[in-house]
Amino acid sequence: MLFPQRVFCGQLNQNDVGKRLLLAGWVDAYRDHGGLLFIHLRDRSGIMQIVFSPEIAPADVCQRAASLRAEYCIAVRGEVKKRLEGTENPNIETGNIDVMVTALIVLAESDALPFAISEKAMVAGAASAGADSVAEDLRLEYRYLDLRRPSMRDNLVSRHRIFQCVREFLDSKGFVEIETPVLTMSTPEGARDYLVPSRVHPQNFYALPQSPQLFKQLLMIGGIERYFQLARCFRDEDLRPNRQPEFTQLDLEASFIDEEFLYNLVEELTVRMFAVGGITLTRPFPRITYAEAMDTTGSDRPDLRFGLRFIDVTDVFSNTNYSIFRQILQRGGCIKGINIKGQSEKLSKNVLQNEYAKEIVPSFGAKGMTWMRAENGKLESNIVQFFSSQELEELRKRFGVADGDVLIMIADPSYAVVTSALGQLRLHLANRLGLIPADTFCPVWVTEFPLFEATEEGGITSSHHPFTAPDRTDFDPKNIEELLTLRSRAYDLVMNGEELGGGSIRISDRELQRKIFTALGLSEEETKEKFGFFLRAFDFGAPPHGGLALGMDRTVSMILQTPSIREVIAFPKNRSAACPLTGAPSTVKREQLAELGLLNLGGQDVLPGTAEKKDRIDRVSWVSRIGIAAEERAVMQETLKQSDELASLAAGKAGNEEPAYSVAPVANRTRPGGAAKRSPLSETGQLLRSTPYTKGNYYKVTNILE
Ligand code: AMO
Repeated sequence: MLFPQRVFCGQLNQNDVGKRLLLAGWVDAYRDHGGLLFIHLRDRSGIMQIVFSPEIAPADVCQRAASLRAEYCIAVRGEVKKRLEGTENPNIETGNIDVMVTALIVLAESDALPFAISEKAMVAGAASAGADSVAEDLRLEYRYLDLRRPSMRDNLVSRHRIFQCVREFLDSKGFVEIETPVLTMSTPEGARDYLVPSRVHPQNFYALPQSPQLFKQLLMIGGIERYFQLARCFRDEDLRPNRQPEFTQLDLEASFIDEEFLYNLVEELTVRMFAVGGITLTRPFPRITYAEAMDTTGSDRPDLRFGLRFIDVTDVFSNTNYSIFRQILQRGGCIKGINIKGQSEKLSKNVLQNEYAKEIVPSFGAKGMTWMRAENGKLESNIVQFFSSQELEELRKRFGVADGDVLIMIADPSYAVVTSALGQLRLHLANRLGLIPADTFCPVWVTEFPLFEATEEGGITSSHHPFTAPDRTDFDPKNIEELLTLRSRAYDLVMNGEELGGGSIRISDRELQRKIFTALGLSEEETKEKFGFFLRAFDFGAPPHGGLALGMDRTVSMILQTPSIREVIAFPKNRSAACPLTGAPSTVKREQLAELGLLNLGGQDVLPGTAEKKDRIDRVSWVSRIGIAAEERAVMQETLKQSDELASLAAGKAGNEEPAYSVAPVANRTRPGGAAKRSPLSETGQLLRSTPYTKGNYYKVTNILE
């Protein structure tokens, strides 16, 4: 066996000149110079240029070398030689030495590649390649090849170093790494659960954890006092660029502590993790309340790398003659604005009016915006004549206006519309005008979140999760208005507009926990069914405790400054939550479903979903994927009969019209077709009045861009 003698490419340097050694790895790139063959040999440590010269290597070696192609896996023997002056390659770390090959073993050949892997150009001055132009799904389908690229390998190695740093640090602080179950009960974090059917308990399901929240609290009740875990979490939720259906959290929890303990601990840890990536963060991290963050940036994850903070000017216009503002203020609205300092050259009247006022700001949900440009000591705009000189003077003072500045204000009866639209505009302008400094990291703690949020159905839901301690305990759990004024002892760690982590001091009093469940509208029964085991634990002396979870994919991605979290995950899912490599999720054999008790739900012999569509009931069962049991067939028969009659009536026929089953192409069997009439409401604009974004007569849907 040769390999014990093997040395790593990336570890060689000038001091090794003259040594004879064995290298092994993959052919990264090759160049044939009329009989003289140069190859970049790549292993996990780096790249070494190996040279096949007819003067040094035996003829058969040179002959076999000529057939080497990209990604062949090879081992070579040779001698290290200093490169001739002027032939050094600064693209690789070993660029001033070569290995002159004397022996070659081809360990495995490679097929033609689906995309180029080599990132390091073979000659000085040539551009190095990257994976930017390769479709991401193709990269993910051949992820094992993608991982051979030095940049991907570096990402994974750095991720490992950061994880090591976490383990060492938390160990030094007395935290114990404990694994919690993956096959478990639902854990409420606001997403849908991934369910796993149990074979042993047919038609019963485990849920994959959305986080180890319940278990880490049980560990505190279990007396562990300080726990952490690099935990895999699973959430079936709408995908965004910084979300994965399965992701890794640094989850931690401690007993007999308060917020300050956690701020200190997590700040120290964050500083260390970023230092692994060569980034210096200064402590203490600033803190901002949720209310202030919304008031001044329109976001609960404020990007503090640049200014453009909101200034409230509602009171400036309390007696205004400008009718749009007056009407909005009469309806209890507010007006906020930003000063884009010194940017009037880039924000012409045309851009402000035709792009921002007409297109961009309406797409952010506001009806419109007001702009003013400061020129020659005056504020100019298309509507400036409607404002009094006092109002204009007050605006100049509030915004600290100088010539060259541009003011943008948004007014709306709804505070949420103003802050949300201005918040999106703030980010849009910062990106467009290049106001975001590179290589800058601005951590901030966001505190004092509302404990509850209103739901569209008129109820409430936890902003974080139902185990978060409220700021006071004397509330009435049935009074929704009062509940919505409560704040929580939760905190988020935000950096550059991204939520890296979040946590809270927990409820440790059993009565208070029950009261929160009541406030959330859970009946005794439901509470018992969902959280009975958890609440029971609080009957046995629960310590005060709190914790936090950091999204490690996001944190590593931020440290390494990768464009997406997928770049720091070995085998991520793509944007539609699928794995192009394995083809997951995939269908399973009917036998597997049957074994899990998931097919024969109705208890009949012919399984629903079979291709055996013997009669109409079978077909309905097949189309709807609903099992219809033998005893239910009579009811279904009757239902189908009634719907036939209804269809005949609607079609204006008294007879026995055969209903259509196919979906497309299909004739309308219940109503004669005809040319669609235009609604008169579309002419007046009434039809689209309450849609958030419109263009002409169309209703616009938001693009999801990455
Ligand atoms: P939370 O739900 O805020 O808190 O999650 C904590 C952090 O996990 C990361 N994260 C994600 N990362 C990638 N893909 C996802 N789909 C995803 N969802 C969340 C984020 C987030 O800040 N149990 C609580 C923590 C606690 O209270 O201690 C929890 O899970 O970076």
